[in-house]
Amino acid sequence: MPSSYYLPGKGRSARVEDLFATIASRYDLINDLQSLGLHRLWKRRLIQLAKPKPHERALDLCCGTGDVAFRLANAGTHTVAADFSLPMLQVGRERFQNERIQFIRADALNLPFDDSTFDLLTISYGLRNLADVREGLNEMQRVLKPGGRAMILDFGKPTHPAFRLGYYFYLKRFVPLFGRVFCGNSATHAYIYESLMAYPAQKGVAELMRQDGWANIRIENLLGGMMSINLGEKR
Ligand SMILES: C[S@@+](CC[C@H](N)C(=O)[O-])C[C@H]1O[C@@H](n2cnc3c(N)ncnc32)[C@H](O)[C@@H]1O
Repeated sequence: MPSSYYLPGKGRSARVEDLFATIASRYDLINDLQSLGLHRLWKRRLIQLAKPKPHERALDLCCGTGDVAFRLANAGTHTVAADFSLPMLQVGRERFQNERIQFIRADALNLPFDDSTFDLLTISYGLRNLADVREGLNEMQRVLKPGGRAMILDFGKPTHPAFRLGYYFYLKRFVPLFGRVFCGNSATHAYIYESLMAYPAQKGVAELMRQDGWANIRIENLLGGMMSINLGEKR
């Protein structure tokens, strides 16, 4: 059993794939418990900001068990839900049988879509897991149509020192207990804190988007920046 699921560099993807294969069957339960159900509100906010319109083509990247893809499809979009973890996709397919969602196995760093395919792209709690955040953003930009919107929901880094201290303490000391209790290994959930420390988070992601030519870049902080949504459009 690996002592840590966070591995910098080239081997990262394989380790992340192992992690999600290990937790897939408990993922939704733990998500509800560790966020006290709040992740549902944050995902709802993501969809409000995405403003999906019927007949648009949407991509939900790192879709996991399909929460966001389901909301997009319910809004009438034709949704591709992509993830590289077969066990996560399997849970998603069992949860949501909706003719407007197509679940596919794909690596976010090498997407099997032509340039300028999608009107709208969401990625929730996915970007932080990629071996290369900038490459992931570039791949997102490539598959969006000009004017296409991207919405990125993830753990954030609050600027208020007291907030940040309490929040990091919760992620570091309490969240691993969910891994120990439900997956038999605290490393599965210690990963959240470890990966967040290596992630540029809301401000860093916005800066990368600025450098790479995205338009209408915006950050919406949730819960004082503990969570955040980065928004941008392809020019
Ligand atoms: C924390 S889960 C988020 C699932 C879902 N989006 C949600 O918000 O509940 C992260 C997901 O990203 C997927 N993932 C991580 N790296 C990936 C990559 N390079 N390509 C595709 N999927 C990836 C994992 O398999 C996992 O299902």
